[in-house]
Amino acid sequence: MIGKLTYMAAQATFLTTILILIIPNVIADTKAEENSAYITMPVHLSNEFSTVPAGLQAADSSLTSQLISVPGGIDPPLAEAEKAPKIIKVSQDGSGEFKTITDAVKSIPSGNKVRTIIAIGPGEYKEKVHVDRFKPFVTFYGTQPGNMPKIVYGDTAKKLGTFNSATVIVESDYFVAVNIIFANSAPLPIGKELTGEQAVAMRISGNKAAFHNCRFIGFQDTLCDDKGLHFFNNSYVEGTVDFVFGTGKSLYLKSELRSVAKGFAAVAAQGRQSESEDNGFTFVSCNLTGTGDIYLARTWKARAKIVFAYTYLGNNINPAGWFNNKASLSNETVFYGEYKCIGPGASNGKRALAKMLTDAEAKPYLDKTYINGDTWLLPIPKI
Ligand SMILES: *[C@@H]1O[C@H](CO)[C@@H](O)[C@H](O)[C@H]1NC(C)=O
Ligand SMILES: *[C@@H]1O[C@H](CO)[C@@H](O)[C@H](O)[C@H]1NC(C)=O
Ligand SMILES: *[C@@H]1O[C@H](CO)[C@@H](O)[C@H](O)[C@H]1NC(C)=O
Repeated sequence: MIGKLTYMAAQATFLTTILILIIPNVIADTKAEENSAYITMPVHLSNEFSTVPAGLQAADSSLTSQLISVPGGIDPPLAEAEKAPKIIKVSQDGSGEFKTITDAVKSIPSGNKVRTIIAIGPGEYKEKVHVDRFKPFVTFYGTQPGNMPKIVYGDTAKKLGTFNSATVIVESDYFVAVNIIFANSAPLPIGKELTGEQAVAMRISGNKAAFHNCRFIGFQDTLCDDKGLHFFNNSYVEGTVDFVFGTGKSLYLKSELRSVAKGFAAVAAQGRQSESEDNGFTFVSCNLTGTGDIYLARTWKARAKIVFAYTYLGNNINPAGWFNNKASLSNETVFYGEYKCIGPGASNGKRALAKMLTDAEAKPYLDKTYINGDTWLLPIPKI
């Protein structure tokens, strides 16, 4: 059952405030009110990720303070969409409006302008789900965090190409997922890297998407962080090779990355190709663990940009840290940064591809300013 829309009321008040602030003909001298309104936002960040030691939580307070002050205001269409969110319930026991996520998504009109929360009950949903670009403001919300719904399918690159092998494909903007397991059930490719065996669990191609408490399960190419600004919070990604890949500009906060490889493993493959492109991955207060011979990333595109900060690098991290499989690429082309990481796999300072960032160099990568979060990141709704 869905409880009272407690968050909605709070959110409505908050958004009314925002709307007043962003409507140009409303009196400007609201600085003080503006600040107090934001400070009352229901943001609770402490102790939410107990596996990260206290010493690694440094990025959190800056994130918090920025979450509660929104200098520029959120995007007007988003503020409008959040005014009166709609809930569609999906439940396998027949108590909801739909039994499948696909049917719930189909019920959302093209050109949707309203935050539409698909509240998904527990169970395994054997579906391939597509949210096309004409359906923005969609939220997938697992109603029971302790019994998260799992969306699973088993397509592979051999059949559909890597991008379309994804179990869930989201191409619209302002997507949010909370308490969802995204999985691809295709079997573990045998050998180091078999052509056609890539099998994506989730592809996010929409701009300004947030994932909270989600799990991404697969082997090669688990999470296609395709393009746009993305926030992955308190989540888990499992895989073998390139299990976070794409050209998104993304902040991974307090998330666990786990290799299940038997041999070679590489967490990230980032697709930035030229200095003019504004994308990259930053992993902050994360935890990298698992089996195999693990590299933080391997070279894919010439100007790839990846930063690991305040992250626990576990056993099995290869001392070289970053794998170079292209002779043409070097530390002068790719930007692979490490900052204040700890654990047995942390840098010995002798990694050919790595740049040990100074405080000033690391700063742009450590919090939600990296993904322009002030314009779109909102607290998780309570339904
Ligand atoms: C990292 O994750 C592993 C596996 O879940 C856990 O055992 C370990 O305590 C975590 N370590 C840190 C420092 O967060
Ligand atoms: C991250 O997710 C947790 C729940 O998993 C939530 O409590 C926390 O507020 C989220 N953090 C941000 C910055 O949204
Ligand atoms: C690349 O590595 C060389 C050798 O360690 C070093 O001298 C140089 O400064 C590095 N370049 C960058 C951009 O980090």
